Amino acid sequence: MDKKFYITAPIFYANAKLHMGHAYSLVLSDILARYHRTIGEKTFFVSGADEHGDKIVRAAQKEGLGPQVFVNIKFDEFKELSGKLGISNDFFVRTSDKECHWPGAQKLWRALLEAGDVYKDAYKGLYCVGCEAFITEHELVDGKCPHHDTVPESISEENYFFKLSKYALEIRQLINERKLKITPHSKANEMIALIDEGLSDVSISRPEKEIPWGVPVPGDSSHFMYVWCDALSSYLSALGYGGEDDTNFREFWPANVQVIGKDIMRFHTLLWPALLLSAKLPLPQEIFVHGFITSGGKKMSKSIGNVLDPYEFINEYGLDALRYYLAREVVPTEDGDLTHERFKEIYNANLANGIGNLVSRTLKMAEQYFGGNIAGQRESVPPLRTRAVFETSETEIGGFNIPFIIQNNILPRYHTHMQGNEINKAADVVWELVSHLDHFITDYEPFKLIKTDKEMTGKVLWGVIEGILQITDMLIPLMPDTAQKIRELIKTEEKDGETTFITKTPAEPLFGRK
Ligand code: ME8
Ligand code: MG
Repeated sequence: MDKKFYITAPIFYANAKLHMGHAYSLVLSDILARYHRTIGEKTFFVSGADEHGDKIVRAAQKEGLGPQVFVNIKFDEFKELSGKLGISNDFFVRTSDKECHWPGAQKLWRALLEAGDVYKDAYKGLYCVGCEAFITEHELVDGKCPHHDTVPESISEENYFFKLSKYALEIRQLINERKLKITPHSKANEMIALIDEGLSDVSISRPEKEIPWGVPVPGDSSHFMYVWCDALSSYLSALGYGGEDDTNFREFWPANVQVIGKDIMRFHTLLWPALLLSAKLPLPQEIFVHGFITSGGKKMSKSIGNVLDPYEFINEYGLDALRYYLAREVVPTEDGDLTHERFKEIYNANLANGIGNLVSRTLKMAEQYFGGNIAGQRESVPPLRTRAVFETSETEIGGFNIPFIIQNNILPRYHTHMQGNEINKAADVVWELVSHLDHFITDYEPFKLIKTDKEMTGKVLWGVIEGILQITDMLIPLMPDTAQKIRELIKTEEKDGETTFITKTPAEPLFGRK
């Protein structure tokens, strides 16, 4: 049987316009999903919309709309952005979807009930609508929620509670033994420290107030499931859990990787595993926690006015330029900064002058000197003569190209990084090869060599094109459109141990200078 790979992106609150930080979560998940598809794993990739909760009701009211109409509009916007970002998800889950999602959410609830883990209790405390979570006095900074900088609301109500405390030690052990892998590991330690401070049971319902908006608690329609419980269960319902056809659930659960941002780590590494343990369902293999995209060193916020709109960058530079930046210029497990100035600099250096120029000038020479038809073999590609930037690539044996790729472990390193979710390092490896090919051209100067030695020029260019094809394969998950464009410019024919590249010159540069 094929190896399966289930990957989830967080489901996005349908209350506001998505910004660059959200785009980052999506692109990161998408790169991993595409990568796992390229290595032949049967991949299922889900993203979606988190459409219940007070936050949504209030946003809808502000617009003078009913919540369903409001989230439908937001969902269309979300889908459009997702398409613009080239997100290749197999399914969109929506928590307001009564047919696809509610049965799963309610089945999970019933499983918790059957395990004896749900009880009713009075609750008096503070609630942050931004977090959609209860918050304790000692988490406040100057009386405000540190994430949203707002004063929480006092709430006094009777809710259903979930026995989170019952699972604290088990989760601690699972995290410790890395059976529940949290990446980066420093985050695992943070969660263990939290467990050691003591975990209280959590409210998993909210009473119905004026507006009936949420998944009804099975058997008690005066309560809705708490939004986080509702939202987390979407990872299951997206696979048909609780529905009529749960083939996908049986095939794909547990998730291989669940991608989330650091602000929602607690819900995913404490509450989520506890719900699954209670429901006697297997836990995800890995929770991959990424950092924040900041702008000018500051968290993006409307009040600072530094919220970055992904559309702006896509319209100005193209989708793959944005994907490139997010993939390579941001360390996934840390915060990464993005400003217009830096973006332009990186774009010109690594895309326009980097890979774009490499492809253009190589294919232009191939056309000019060889009519876009170069036959050759790996073994005849000449070695690099000058001392390379990369010491180990200097070799006198065989061609430069394959020896370089092999000696520098280009492909294994790329795969190791991709499989370790180190997308930026995988992209570094690709650009290592770009620089190497640039260096090779500088070394042989085929534009001069053609005047004296056409045969050697052909060997050099053949080697560069072969290298470009290697790059193209590695770009498929990172920059799928670019990979496809290059592929369309270079066709390969194999005959009698020779490979002929039939090339075309790009009509316009892959990445025009800005
Ligand atoms: O939290 N940089 O939804 P959300 C990087 N509905 N990532 C960022 C970011 C930034 N500046 N700002 C937000 C929710 N994100 C819940 C999730 S999952 C069952 C429910 C990330 O729309 C954030 O960390 O507020 C999260 O992973 C995602 O965007 C959606 O955030
Ligand atoms: Mg948020």
